[in-house]
Amino acid sequence: MSASERVVIVNFKTYLESSGARAVVLARICESVADETGVTIVVAPPMPDLASVIAAVTIPVFSQHADDLKPGSTTGHVALENILASGAKGTLLNHSERRLRISDISSLVGNAKRNGLSTVVCTNDLPVTRACAGLEPDFVAIEPPELIGGDMSVTTANPEIVSESVRVAKKAFPGVKVLCGAGVKTGEDAAKAIELGTNGVLLASGVVKASDPKRVLLDLAAGVQR
Ligand code: G3P
Repeated sequence: MSASERVVIVNFKTYLESSGARAVVLARICESVADETGVTIVVAPPMPDLASVIAAVTIPVFSQHADDLKPGSTTGHVALENILASGAKGTLLNHSERRLRISDISSLVGNAKRNGLSTVVCTNDLPVTRACAGLEPDFVAIEPPELIGGDMSVTTANPEIVSESVRVAKKAFPGVKVLCGAGVKTGEDAAKAIELGTNGVLLASGVVKASDPKRVLLDLAAGVQR
């Protein structure tokens, strides 16, 4: 796997540390690390900050979620067409904090593909990883919910679920790229993710809540390139 296929996705979630003007500041830091290291860094800012972040950076910006509905007379939802119109390049789907039905994921992945948007489908265990990879998204991201936001990386707490996710996902759809997340904070964690067969990591608190996010991002970028 070449270094250019290695990815760090930073989910800003709804943390205040990564909201409003601070979303733009953090996205610019991510952009500077992507420029300095050559690693692809994708950011998923809070939904109200999508447009301001897209206007401020050239790295890919993703939505944190999409709803399986047509744009128009709906309120408080986000259609893929709205994401496309914002200028975002893709979307997370089925995050542990925003689950979707498999029928909705299937429809969203197909529709995203037709519209040129990338999809990252989050999964919580092996059967879900297998099923979601079979829908042929760009990425699946294995994130055991009990480890999200915690201090121990999934790569240390449960390395088997990461390597097995790679195996079952690639068997279901050889073209899928696999990420892992939950508790990932260091270059060591990211390097272990690569060693376990992934293309990189999806993380949040390790960057968003860091006192020096640039230092953490440089460490993560070095880790995925090891
Ligand atoms: O989407 C990433 C996420 O759920 C992992 O969160 O805070 O454990 O890096 P965190």
